[in-house]
Amino acid sequence: MEGYNLENLQSDLRIELVNGLTGENVESVKELMSRYKSDPQDWKDMEKWSDIKYTRTLLDKGNGHYNLMILCWNVGQESPIHNHPNSHCFMKTLEGVVHEELYRKPDMTSCQCSCGCKMEKIGDRDYAVNDVALITDKDGVHRVGNRSHVDRAVTLHLYSPPFTTCHKYDDDTSKETEVPMGFDQDFSSRCCSTTCSS
Ligand code: SIN
Repeated sequence: MEGYNLENLQSDLRIELVNGLTGENVESVKELMSRYKSDPQDWKDMEKWSDIKYTRTLLDKGNGHYNLMILCWNVGQESPIHNHPNSHCFMKTLEGVVHEELYRKPDMTSCQCSCGCKMEKIGDRDYAVNDVALITDKDGVHRVGNRSHVDRAVTLHLYSPPFTTCHKYDDDTSKETEVPMGFDQDFSSRCCSTTCSS
């Protein structure tokens, strides 16, 4: 919608998630993220690019109820296969196209191979500008990346509740390792509205 910018989205998310994410407001959060139409002017000055790894920039700590962030994916960069422990992951593409591979969450007790079993892929999808995706551990675990050889990609992510570590999974053995989820930049002190209390 014209006139609805990223700051408006941030304000509305703060109001919608004032008491956190419940079964009731998952759809509303998805709708708000869809309502915002990507405008690079809103987020260009917060981009960070690396040739080594995709970057994570924190926009809002959501009064402890969620983390809102921008991820910048240089050509060919991708995440490891990972989970979102007890959290909802909303992802909106702001620029470029991101690819998601969905995998079944491994059950090591059913694996008969002594050296581990390969991760089982159960889905595969591209998300173009303004598409919004949602995943929880009930759906599976995923890998996100930018497969383009020429174009960069930028995504907006909301994790509720926020988490500081997750598990990554080895493609060939399904072995899981706990990894910290740090930020390359933090703009969360840029207060977005009167609903901002941190
Ligand atoms: C990340 O947050 O670092 C990976 C992207 C995702 O979970 O969708």
